Order: sequence, then C-alpha cells, then structure tokens
Amino acid sequence: LIHLLSIEGLPRAILTHILDTAASFVSVSDREVKKVPLLRGKSVFNLFFENSTRTRTTFDIAAKRLSADVFTLDIGRSSTAKGESLLDTVDNLSAMAADLFVVRHSQSGAPYLIAQHVAPHVHVVNAGDGRHAHPTQAMLDMYTIRHYKQDFSNLTVAIVGDVLHSRVARSDIHALTTLGAAEVRVVGPRTLVPGDMADMGVRVFHDLEEGIRGCDVIIMLRLQNERMTGALLPSSQEYFKSFGLTEDKLRLAKPDAIVMHPGPINRGVEIDSAVVDGPQAVILSQVTFGIAVRMAVMSIVAGNVA
Ligand code: CP
Repeated sequence: LIHLLSIEGLPRAILTHILDTAASFVSVSDREVKKVPLLRGKSVFNLFFENSTRTRTTFDIAAKRLSADVFTLDIGRSSTAKGESLLDTVDNLSAMAADLFVVRHSQSGAPYLIAQHVAPHVHVVNAGDGRHAHPTQAMLDMYTIRHYKQDFSNLTVAIVGDVLHSRVARSDIHALTTLGAAEVRVVGPRTLVPGDMADMGVRVFHDLEEGIRGCDVIIMLRLQNERMTGALLPSSQEYFKSFGLTEDKLRLAKPDAIVMHPGPINRGVEIDSAVVDGPQAVILSQVTFGIAVRMAVMSIVAGNVA
C-alpha cells in the first residue's frame, strides 16, 4: 500500500493488517499509545483545507508517536488565500522534502489528484474528501467494533442519518462488507439516503425504530448542513422527532448494542444527550483508537511495515 485514498477495492487482508498493526500500537490498557521510531527522519505534512478537530489532531499525535517530523499547514494563513493552486502548494511542500501528505479537502477526489502528481516516493493519506471517502475514520470505526464485538460475522450494523452527504457512511459500508458483517443497514429519511445503497449490499430503512431493531452496532451520523441545499434541510426538531436516537429507541437494539458517532455531535438533533453520555456510547473510545489506527496507516504506507 503506497497511499490510502479509499477503502473501496481494498481486500480483507489489508484491512485486517491495518487493524492488527493498530492493535500492536495500543498498550494493554488500551489507553496509552507507545512511541516507536518507524517514521524517524520522515516529514509528515498535514494539509487540512476543511475544518477538523479529531482527524487533524489524532494524525498529528500519531505522526509524533511514530517519531516523524510533523508540519501542520495553517491553511487560513497560507498562500492558498492568495490564489495558489492545490498542486502548486503541494509542489512547494515537496520541495521541503515532504514524505507523506495527510489531506482533507471539501472537493471529492482532491487527495487522488495529489497522489497522481507527487513523486513515487511520496505518500498520500486521505483524511476526508467531500462526500466521497474517509478511510481512516472507517478503519478506526472497524477497530472499535472489533474491540467491543470481536468478530464481524454475526453482527448487524445500522448506519443512521444523513447517509447522502456522508463520506464516513460510504467508507464504513465498504469496510463492513469487506470484513464480512452479517448485515449492514442504512436508516434515514428518503431525501438523505442515496439510490445506490442496495448495489452496495446494504438494507435500506426509512423508519428508525425498524432500522435499529435487533442491531449490535449503531453508527449515528450528523446532518451535514454544509453540504445541503435548502430543499433537503430538515428542521432540527422535526429531524430529532423522527430520526434522533433516544434512550427509549435504543432499547429496540440488542441490550449490549454499542452506539458510535464519528463526531462532531449535534446533541438533540441526531442523538439525545442521555445516549451520548450513557453506558452504551463508545464515541470517545473511537477517538482514542484513532491514534493507533492512524499510526498503523502511516507506518504501513511510509514506514516499511510489511
Ligand atoms: N470524524 C471526523 O472526521 O471529525 P473531524 O471533522 O473533527 O476531524
């Protein structure tokens, strides 16, 4: 693996290798991540052309724990604001001996453009492009599911909410089907579920109660208002009434079901505070596992980890 741009098309062996490598970076307590010299002497450039809290920070921590030199470009203060193109920016950072670019961009395909452009020894990891893909989020989601549920083959997983605009949903669906989840469901209003879901091997539900009944894992998604036009945008109250996950509705899932969310959360819109802060939520564990998973991805693409 030279770059990680998407989960789509990757074989199960590679996904499992990423999960196993991540596990090797997590200490027995699952809290403390070890520092290793796998990227010593390498330069990692974080290029976040779109806002981020979790992904940007955990990539930063992960690269430092791999002993890389890390540079996080402040895009707001960069020469992008003066009209410098994406590829000219990349060329200039390559001239500073970049070894790995971590790229988030609002345009689907931007990390691919960079991967095609850079020299063969330079690596690119997609940190979320438009509504297309968020492969490291999917891998940390898979790590979290495997941590709590061990095996994918008996699991029913529901992905709930604004699937239409969600790069996380697409990457999670590819990862779950490749890893052999028994059933993957998407649950959401007709306006926010894309038409190609059946082709991706998932069951579609437009009723939350039906969709989460008997599930082992529920992945909640926020309304991605920044990618919606007026006609699609439901009111928060209206949406919460039909698709907000409350403690009452959660009782329809299996008693040991886990609740996940990639963040950022909008409490009282797609999920009730009582669920976010309740015993079945593993949302902050996802964030913690993100460090080890991003260490795994960067060490596999750029650190000669077989
Ligand atoms: N899950 C996720 O991508 O969060 P951020 O946008 O904060 O990185």
